[in-house]
Amino acid sequence: MTDASDCRRPLDYRERARAALPAHVWDYIEGGAGDELTVAWNSAAFDRVSIVPRTMVDVSACDLSCELFGARYATPLGVAPMAYHQIAHPEGELATARGAGAAGALCVVSIFASARLEDIAAARSGAEASGPLWFQLYWLRRREVMLDLAARAGAAGYRALVVTADTPRLGDRRRDRHNGWAVPAGVRAVNLDAAVMASAHRRRPGASALAGHAEEAFDPSATWHDLEWLVARAPLPVLVKGILDPADAQLAVDHGAAGVIVSNHGGRQVDGAISALRALPPVVDAVAGRVPVLLDGGVRRGRDAFVALALGATAVLIGRPVLWALAAAGADGVAHQLRLYRDELENLLALAGRPRVRELGRDAVAHG
Ligand code: FNR
Ligand code: LAC
Repeated sequence: MTDASDCRRPLDYRERARAALPAHVWDYIEGGAGDELTVAWNSAAFDRVSIVPRTMVDVSACDLSCELFGARYATPLGVAPMAYHQIAHPEGELATARGAGAAGALCVVSIFASARLEDIAAARSGAEASGPLWFQLYWLRRREVMLDLAARAGAAGYRALVVTADTPRLGDRRRDRHNGWAVPAGVRAVNLDAAVMASAHRRRPGASALAGHAEEAFDPSATWHDLEWLVARAPLPVLVKGILDPADAQLAVDHGAAGVIVSNHGGRQVDGAISALRALPPVVDAVAGRVPVLLDGGVRRGRDAFVALALGATAVLIGRPVLWALAAAGADGVAHQLRLYRDELENLLALAGRPRVRELGRDAVAHG
């Protein structure tokens, strides 16, 4: 385990995690689809946007809070849904939830979590400052399983559901095919039926077992009518994750989405897909304030979060950097990582003379 205090910026956790993890686990986490063009574009897009500071503004108190579904969230930073946290650390999602809770950050729990969603909620409420939990679903062929999970999440105190729309099948993860990647036997998606999950553990040379499982279990025929079906039956607001086209954002809202998450799945689905940041402003325009718009993909600094918030995101989710910190230092690492992002963001709000996250607008950035 690493002393978390050695890491001064979010990116410092990357090499710690690489050193701590077996190569095939590292490849699964870090990799993307195809030639990983979009993985690179997601973070590069932030580097092409400049910040325009204001001066002579009272920045003696900065306000990082944001509002989502009528509730005040302490920070606009959260953990993106990611499968199987136990591959990164034996305490898995329980540690992630404790760490995110301690940092007051939102945590979105994946349908493929390796801990029971009720246990994650319990771990979270034990944290010193607990932030909200949301639960993510895929479009499963067995729709009754989606409804059962939605009901369980509602009963356990989760505040929203996220349905991922960009995964009719898994993207072509070449690293995983090369490694014959399968989910390790001791790590299980315990919220789902063990028999249904068996294929995710079945190692085959030259193939990803997870891709094979998705082909079996995911419903590639889901359309906007299915969203209406889910929204009508879900006990919680439903956000749609994986939106890149403004027309889709409009359709999501028209069919009952309570929010949209601009995302290309961290470059793991369509290689060469538009970067999340570039896709954000047209989506924000199409949604026109009717529902919140979130973003994930390539957020590697507090500065990147500032840019996304300025371009219209209500909140920003962080993926791989949370798993890096989890792998390196467990719950403390996750809490520390999210504080690094938060502190960078707070510092920038003050230095740029823009002390309130909720008032950040496009005038705070310039292209190029
Ligand atoms: C993911 N992502 C993901 N998304 C989702 O909706 N359900 C899931 O189960 C997973 N699983 C998953 C596993 C791993 C290891 C990674 C890296 C990603 C995608 C995730 O929610 C998010 O869209 C991206 O990770 C964001 O990009 P960055 O921050 O990793 O660049
Ligand atoms: C992934 C799936 C599980 O990105 O969402 O690996």
